[in-house]
Amino acid sequence: MAPKKACLITFGCQMNEYDSGRLADLLTAAGWTMTDSRDTADFIFFNTCSIREKAAQRLLNHVEQVRSLKKKKPGLIIGVGGCVAEQEGEKLLTDAPWLDLVVGPQHLPTIPDLLEKLTAKTETGRAATGSGRRPAWSRENLAELGRDDGSRTEAGGLIGFVTIMQGCNNYCTYCVVPYLRGPELSRGAGDIIDEVKRLIDNGVKDLTLLGQNVNSYGLGQSGEPTFPELLEKVAATGIERLRFTTSHPKDFPPELVRLFGSLGPLCEGLHLPVQSGSDKVLKDMRRVYTRDSYLRLVDDLRTQCPGLSLTTDIIVGFPGETEKDFEDTVSLLDTVGYDAMFSFKYSDRPQTRSAAFENKVPEEEKGRRLTYLQTRQKDITLAKNAAHVGQVLEVLVERESDRYENQLTGRARNFKLIHFDGSPELIGRTVPVRVEEAWGASLRGVRAEK
Ligand code: SAH
Ligand code: SF4
Ligand code: F3S
Repeated sequence: MAPKKACLITFGCQMNEYDSGRLADLLTAAGWTMTDSRDTADFIFFNTCSIREKAAQRLLNHVEQVRSLKKKKPGLIIGVGGCVAEQEGEKLLTDAPWLDLVVGPQHLPTIPDLLEKLTAKTETGRAATGSGRRPAWSRENLAELGRDDGSRTEAGGLIGFVTIMQGCNNYCTYCVVPYLRGPELSRGAGDIIDEVKRLIDNGVKDLTLLGQNVNSYGLGQSGEPTFPELLEKVAATGIERLRFTTSHPKDFPPELVRLFGSLGPLCEGLHLPVQSGSDKVLKDMRRVYTRDSYLRLVDDLRTQCPGLSLTTDIIVGFPGETEKDFEDTVSLLDTVGYDAMFSFKYSDRPQTRSAAFENKVPEEEKGRRLTYLQTRQKDITLAKNAAHVGQVLEVLVERESDRYENQLTGRARNFKLIHFDGSPELIGRTVPVRVEEAWGASLRGVRAEK
């Protein structure tokens, strides 16, 4: 019998990317092959995100679209995983009766077995319904994290990601993550280091440590190093480039600041979500830091590492956000000068505290604020990119350019994308490139002498 094909579709954050990679490994081990085509797949799995309402809505549209495929191919198994599965559980099976499987993130390892049971039923001519559709969405095997192989790679294996912790304890008032991913749980440092070494042996040169709140790694878990200590251990493996995401501004001790610009592999790029520039909104969001303490942290980081590139996340239209509060956010963008910003309209999420707050900002006003902010940031990003013109940056060459012939694409240490002329044998090497031109989302340069 030809191997069955699985098509995994992933939304959301690095946690889901990692889970999908892991599921692909589990399925491959169970004899499945992977495909990008929904039309030819025997199993379609949506790994979902629930961070904003739009994200959750998008899932339902996708699930609706594949419904017709099932009419053409009765044996097709459709599953939903990730955070919408965790949140909605069995209700999804009622809302979309053509779904076969709903599996929360902690139960991913059960999927190959569930599929086997479902397939056995359909192949003996019985539809996979009723008790065959056992959802596995409760959360109990968190402790398995330590035994998971928590890594995945991109760019032909050059860029690697290692999950170092799961969950979040912060309970920012707008956020569903702590409810859906549970409390923080850090992986053992020994495991992490073993995995980094394995990745290096397999050719990874640029490594990102992942978690919703990586800089509280090890806190409250006896026997594990602190996050700065972990970074030093990882750097000592000989990895060429090291990054981490996401870090919360509240857990940024001087020992961590000091590593920027001094710990060789640690790159000059940091994602440091601020969410808002208004103290009142930050307090209502329960972010714990103030505008001033955040700006002080940015100053310390830049004193320590002058070329540091910073990116951030912003929520506009948080309940009670006045025009003045919004202006504080705009002025914060001007003051910090971020290299890039990810911005979102506030969205009410189930279970969160802010969903019950008063003074909701009208949708239209949120839209206006978002557009204004994005336009402003576009100019800042362009100016930041333009400042690289004339500089020589170390570029890790990832691939041939998809747009221009004889051009290569790679990333600088600050993670900016650079295109330059060159032949494919440079792929995988790190070469100096002189920047000649800057655009909104990338740079163009020419190879330079060392
Ligand atoms: N752990 C990270 C990011 C979590 S989610 C952190 O603490 O920064 C990624 C981003 O989604 C957040 O930084 C925030 O900007 C946005 N976000 C989270 N919940 C949201 C909501 N209810 N409405 C709009 N944006 C939200
Ligand atoms: Fe959500 Fe806040 Fe945790 Fe980030 S730190 S995942 S925004 S609760
Ligand atoms: Fe989304 Fe869940 Fe990640 S809600 S951002 S996929 S933890």
